[in-house]
Amino acid sequence: MEKFYLTTPIYYPSGRFHIGTAYCEVLTDSINRYKKMRGFDTFMLTGVDEHGQKIEDKAKEDGLEPKQYVDIQANKAIELWKQMDIRYNKFMRTTDDYHIPAVQKIFERFLSQGDIYKGEYEGWYCKPCESYFTETQLVDGKCPDCGREVSKMKEEAYFFNMKKYSDRLLEYYDSHPDFIKPDFRKNEMINNFIKPGLEDLCVTRTSFSWGIPVLSDPKHVIYVWLDALTNYLTALGYNSDNDEMFKKFWPADVQIVGKDIARFHLIYWPIFLMALDLPLPKTILVHNWFMMKDGKMSKSKGNVIYPEQLIDRYGLDATKYYLLKEIPLASDGVFTPEEFVDRYNFDLCNDLSNLLNRTVSMVNKYYDGYVPEYNGVPNEVDSSLESDAKQAITTFEEYMSKYEIANAVSSIWTFVSRTNKYIDEVSPWILAKEVDGEDEKTKSEKAEKLKSSMYHLIANIRQIAIMIRPFMEATSDNMLRQLGIDSKNITWDSLNEYKDIKGIKVIEKGEPIFMRLNPEEEIEYIKSLMKK
Ligand code: MSP
Repeated sequence: MEKFYLTTPIYYPSGRFHIGTAYCEVLTDSINRYKKMRGFDTFMLTGVDEHGQKIEDKAKEDGLEPKQYVDIQANKAIELWKQMDIRYNKFMRTTDDYHIPAVQKIFERFLSQGDIYKGEYEGWYCKPCESYFTETQLVDGKCPDCGREVSKMKEEAYFFNMKKYSDRLLEYYDSHPDFIKPDFRKNEMINNFIKPGLEDLCVTRTSFSWGIPVLSDPKHVIYVWLDALTNYLTALGYNSDNDEMFKKFWPADVQIVGKDIARFHLIYWPIFLMALDLPLPKTILVHNWFMMKDGKMSKSKGNVIYPEQLIDRYGLDATKYYLLKEIPLASDGVFTPEEFVDRYNFDLCNDLSNLLNRTVSMVNKYYDGYVPEYNGVPNEVDSSLESDAKQAITTFEEYMSKYEIANAVSSIWTFVSRTNKYIDEVSPWILAKEVDGEDEKTKSEKAEKLKSSMYHLIANIRQIAIMIRPFMEATSDNMLRQLGIDSKNITWDSLNEYKDIKGIKVIEKGEPIFMRLNPEEEIEYIKSLMKK
């Protein structure tokens, strides 16, 4: 089996995760499930980034030791991912005992290779981002990443010699077109950071102690980004007594990160790997953000929405559907209660749920619930549907291979609409009347058409149920159950097997998978959540 290693960023465990932060997890989980269905031996890594001044401060605010604080926070993250049915293989914590010595070894190696040297740092420091900036990097005198106040700081520190690697990095970008997705992020890195000249990166701090001490100079703690980025290696046992998993899974196949941390993953991370003489990940996928109408989601603005609030009322699958559909890879998505309710009512209820319901009820009415045998010779209308069904699979697979998940999800709904249109084209209720009618000549032809239409509808719905599986497994199970198909036997490769459905019996009374919401009430409800 071919391996597939995919990672999310490790999250700062310093507050409740809103739908924006949960997005990355859902996205990665969906890719993981898809790859598993395609027969890959996958390993998904997620976790928390527990060191640094921000965490030390937060713990103090709560009157706790940093370790006590992160233990509580890490559990909250684990609970949320459980509720969201995120199927990761490993939950990484940077306070884990194997991680600390492994990072210390990496630091000493850089030091002995001359990649890291000792100097003095003076610069503008953004505490929440734990980043230093030069005067020119500031935007209106504020942090270019988060827009908050920065302060002038000076300290003895170690530096990583980034300049040494900048040509090699540019060459790598050039010769590996799949390394950065989407493509425009590459130019952003080149034009904003590499061409103007890479600054050496300050990789230690002495202003606080909650971090991994430098082995050979313990009054310094290792900069949280060097500590954090290397988690992708240490989680697999790199620099430990048992590095079998590392040997099996490294390099990562896709590492998924939000746009705010693109710079760390597209510049510093590959440079660290080059310095370690390790292969680079095949792809780093940078996604955009979930925004609110009035800008970033933030508690202070009172415009935050949390995943569990949506899940409790609308279910996990509807929440995931919305998240995945609403952020196109290369631009931000905007969360609005109106759009959420529209997508629920139009896409999930009108398009998907009704398609299943209408079909189940017709199969019951015309054939006592048994999917009819049909002669296997599609008429013109059915042929066109069959070729659209094949095309739908190809289009979906292409989008998934480029990790364009929003497009992949949309392509399924294009196929749902196509199938709904087919019902209107064929009008089975008219065929049924004609089958019962007087005209002997057309009777058998109409009977065959009616059989074929039910057969094709069930085949398409089965296909849709398989295609949504990586994102909406419970809905997929529910649809298959109503069709009388055992979801245990479902594989991606069985997508094209039309013959599988001969003789199956659909449920006697169809159950709506999504019920129409009252728009006014639900929009008000979601708005009230956002104000809390
Ligand atoms: N700890 C670092 C990552 C270190 S990885 C070696 C970090 N953590 S974070 O908790 O601040 O962010 C985690 C992820 O959530 C990031 O990928 C970030 O881009 C993402 N998001 C935060 N807000 C978001 C939205 N509003 N929308 C989409 N993603 C968002 O950064």
